[in-house]
Amino acid sequence: MTERLGSPSTGVVVTGGASGIGRACAVALAEVGRPVAIWDLDGDGAAATAQQCAELGVKSHAAAVDVSERDRIENEAEPTLTALGSVGGIVHAAGMARRAFPAVMDVDTWDVVLEVNLRAHGLIVSVFVEELQRNPGSAVVGIASIEGLIGHGAVPSYTASKHGLIGLTRAFAHRLGRSGVRANAVCPGYIATPMLLPTLTEPGSRERLEQTVPMGRLAEPEEVARVVRFLLSDEASYVTGAAIVVDGGVTAAGGQQLPELT
Ligand SMILES: NC(=O)c1ccc[n+]([C@@H]2O[C@H](COP(=O)([O-])OP(=O)(O)OC[C@H]3O[C@@H](n4cnc5c(N)ncnc54)[C@H](O)[C@@H]3O)[C@@H](O)[C@H]2O)c1
Repeated sequence: MTERLGSPSTGVVVTGGASGIGRACAVALAEVGRPVAIWDLDGDGAAATAQQCAELGVKSHAAAVDVSERDRIENEAEPTLTALGSVGGIVHAAGMARRAFPAVMDVDTWDVVLEVNLRAHGLIVSVFVEELQRNPGSAVVGIASIEGLIGHGAVPSYTASKHGLIGLTRAFAHRLGRSGVRANAVCPGYIATPMLLPTLTEPGSRERLEQTVPMGRLAEPEEVARVVRFLLSDEASYVTGAAIVVDGGVTAAGGQQLPELT
């Protein structure tokens, strides 16, 4: 008989859930009945997403959290657990990028980019690790980037942080596998969110970017969220330590364009 697999009913903490990919993840998880806690620098945005999730019939909780602050993460763990009843999943989608161009490295913002994009994921998993291990089917997902797999010279700290996030994911997969906690990363390409869209204001810049995508378009944040939801579900019960690319083929083609497009 085929076993029917689904989603655990445990709660999920989603950082960066006020906007873009994080918000889409929270809503996608609420759609399958998972309680969600939204942590974001933007407290009002977090509250709005939590309200949207509550309207789907799940417990939800919002907190204004700057994930670069270790104390704030540690202090918010208990209220979040109390609000959700359990935590069996983490999605670290909070992120920031700083351009270094024309300098070769963004010296002044290096620390904060690494703290937000990389260290925070480790701290959040650390504060919830015993709770994750208690709950069967627990899993964590770090939202990395194609910049976790290839380099981008304009955003060196971002590139380093996303490569690091994939490394941390593999370390967690190794460390936590025996206790039943899976750890994966998702590597989005070009997603239509408030992080990317303001960089495409020049006439024709969106079209030029889309030309570099084999699928010929940007993605909607929901297309990333559905992959995250899968990774947090029992459908992905043997998937751990993976970096799943969601990029419409950008890294597969390595930026090459077909002759008829050039
Ligand atoms: N949009 C893309 O094309 C793209 C591509 C690859 C990877 N990503 C990654 O996806 C993740 C989500 O990005 P997005 O595109 O949805 O951007 P977004 O700007 O829509 O959302 C990012 C969210 O993170 C929050 N945030 C930023 N710093 C924070 C901090 N210190 N503490 C708490 N919250 C903080 C912001 O308030 C915002 O709500 C990021 O990690 C980003 O690097 C995005």
